[in-house]
Amino acid sequence: MLKSFLAKVESREATVGVVGLGYVGLPLAITFARAGFKVIGFDIDARKPACIQDGRCYLELIKPEAWMDLVKEGRLAATTDFSRCREVDAVLVCVPTPLNESREPDLSFVESSARLARSCKRAATSFWCSVPNARIRATHSSATGTSPKSWVA
Ligand SMILES: NC(=O)c1ccc[n+]([C@@H]2O[C@H](COP(=O)([O-])OP(=O)(O)OC[C@H]3O[C@@H](n4cnc5c(N)ncnc54)[C@H](O)[C@@H]3O)[C@@H](O)[C@H]2O)c1
Repeated sequence: MLKSFLAKVESREATVGVVGLGYVGLPLAITFARAGFKVIGFDIDARKPACIQDGRCYLELIKPEAWMDLVKEGRLAATTDFSRCREVDAVLVCVPTPLNESREPDLSFVESSARLARSCKRAATSFWCSVPNARIRATHSSATGTSPKSWVA
């Protein structure tokens, strides 16, 4: 399975999912699309996928010129439809992890993104099942060892 995944990466046939299209997620999505991958970005804030698709600015430092060609060429798409997680081979999770009152990372955004992805497939029992054969990489900041627990919660 790993071999076929690596072959898909090598040939740029792998589709990359980016969950959370903020200051970390949007540049990552653009970078992977520029590198030749098909990228699908997911966000619960409908304004962000709409802005990406329509070429409207929503982050001060990243202008639509940086991604519009990629959208037109079909290499970058953005959506609130988490059922499209089924289309991806790898997922980068880039949702907020603010510190709570006890100065511990608040993982509720990570847990909620896992729940949304999981709910997209009726028979799925976990985030991993809802993204068959997918590789998952966290790019949010959280304490060591906390992420896998929250994804399968
Ligand atoms: N910005 C930085 O310079 C930086 C640097 C290092 C690490 N980080 C870490 O990267 C992570 C993301 O930071 P950021 O600055 O991009 O945050 P951000 O607030 O700019 O973007 C987060 C995005 O996630 C979306 N989101 C929230 N809950 C979601 C869910 N359940 N499903 C899908 N999308 C959801 C939000 O709508 C938002 O668009 C954080 O953990 C942060 O600590 C950020």
